[in-house]
Amino acid sequence: MEEIIAIERDSFLTPWSEKIFRNEMTCPVSRMLVVRSHQRQGKILAGYLVYWHVENEIHIHNIAVRKEMRRKGVATRMIAEAMCRSRRQGALRVTLEVRRSNLPAQKMYGKFGFTVEGVRRGYYDSHEDALIMSAYLQAIPLGTGTKNGTGEGGDA
Ligand SMILES: CC(C)(COP(=O)(O)OP(=O)(O)OC[C@H]1O[C@@H](n2cnc3c(N)ncnc32)[C@H](O)[C@@H]1OP(=O)(O)O)[C@@H](O)C(=O)NCCC(=O)NCCS
Repeated sequence: MEEIIAIERDSFLTPWSEKIFRNEMTCPVSRMLVVRSHQRQGKILAGYLVYWHVENEIHIHNIAVRKEMRRKGVATRMIAEAMCRSRRQGALRVTLEVRRSNLPAQKMYGKFGFTVEGVRRGYYDSHEDALIMSAYLQAIPLGTGTKNGTGEGGDA
């Protein structure tokens, strides 16, 4: 949990608290994926993704990657895995909110076929708008699914 909180604080203006993460871990519709990386000092947490699966939709609530491990495909692996798993479990669509200013994340979602379907004005604490992005899971090339190093959360 300490690693998650450290990455979270390093990644967001208004980071989730430990309590929010713990609530997610007990929420029946919430799923967490983590990527761990083998380094000289041992295994460290590279990133995590939290999503909800409700009926035939998933919603990505949180995704972050350790700063020094970005641009190595960690987030791509987690999103692909979440989409693949949830599609196998009957999900047809994926949605999320992203800050209007977060161009790196928007570019990443664009690679998965997400498009902007709406705007939530002043959604964030800083009054910044959120773009609502969505993608249809059937249209997304999912590859082979589970890859080494992407696991269920809960023990981070
Ligand atoms: C957004 C974030 C999760 C991406 O994680 P990542 O592991 O670095 O992403 P990937 O390596 O899988 O990158 C996938 C693609 O996204 C785009 N991308 C990612 N970071 C980018 C950046 N800084 N600038 C431009 N494009 C970027 C690129 O198209 C990239 O593909 P490429 O490296 O082949 O060009 C990471 O930057 C992060 O933790 N940011 C802070 C938290 C955050 O903004 N979360 C999203 C909230 S909606």
